[in-house]
Amino acid sequence: MRKKIVAGNWKMNLDYTQAKNLLQDLIQNKDKFNADAEIVICPSAPYLGVFAELVAAHDWIKLGSQNAYFIDSGAFTGEISPVQLKSLNIKYCLVGHSERRDNFNEDYNLLAKKVKALINHDITPIFCCGEQLQVRSSNVYREFVMKQLEDSLFSLPAPDVAKCVIAYEPIWAIGTGQTASSEQAQEIHGLIRARLEANFGEKIANSVPILYGGSCKPDNAKELFSQKDIDGGLIGGASLVGADFCDISNSF
Ligand code: PGA
Repeated sequence: MRKKIVAGNWKMNLDYTQAKNLLQDLIQNKDKFNADAEIVICPSAPYLGVFAELVAAHDWIKLGSQNAYFIDSGAFTGEISPVQLKSLNIKYCLVGHSERRDNFNEDYNLLAKKVKALINHDITPIFCCGEQLQVRSSNVYREFVMKQLEDSLFSLPAPDVAKCVIAYEPIWAIGTGQTASSEQAQEIHGLIRARLEANFGEKIANSVPILYGGSCKPDNAKELFSQKDIDGGLIGGASLVGADFCDISNSF
């Protein structure tokens, strides 16, 4: 059975005190979270060191980084290396979030290198894909998302792809309150799974979790997570409210 995952992407939100309070609130409410789901939070990078210590005794919460570079160490001012993340016991890392593709020009080639480097250090990449509104409107969104995968993540060998999580996040749904309908989301999740099978075989297609992201909230998560190829969510805004994030974890 595929892993169910609920991952909170806190983005560049919350000052240190707010972030620590939110983490402590999650920890204290352990019993309310879905014990069958992997709970991941991705706070801002400066908080990862302290957070790693805070969750050390609570391994039901996994930490993720929002970003990493593909080189182990050296003269890359401001970047974060997978080795550094590994030394903090960080388990996941977002790769190719649309905000990084758009604001920091991260291209297909760079993203594939990041995935490879993370896997080399036993950190699970959460590889994000998804189309802009104009691509959705022009009806070439299926081809667009498949190309994002084919020219990047799927250029890697099967054993690497088998270690990844994929997140489909239509950009028109991110932070807009306009969620994809469950049919719209399932259509793309189904296509991604079919493409995984065509490229890497049935076993890998059936084991790679595919998360949905884009205005996923307590009131729509159940409907989304009931779709056969949706294995959880990458949650932005709603992950900043402990009770909402917890509710989403119970939406399977
Ligand atoms: P949102 O963000 O839930 O606020 O739409 C999702 C994401 O960007 O990962």
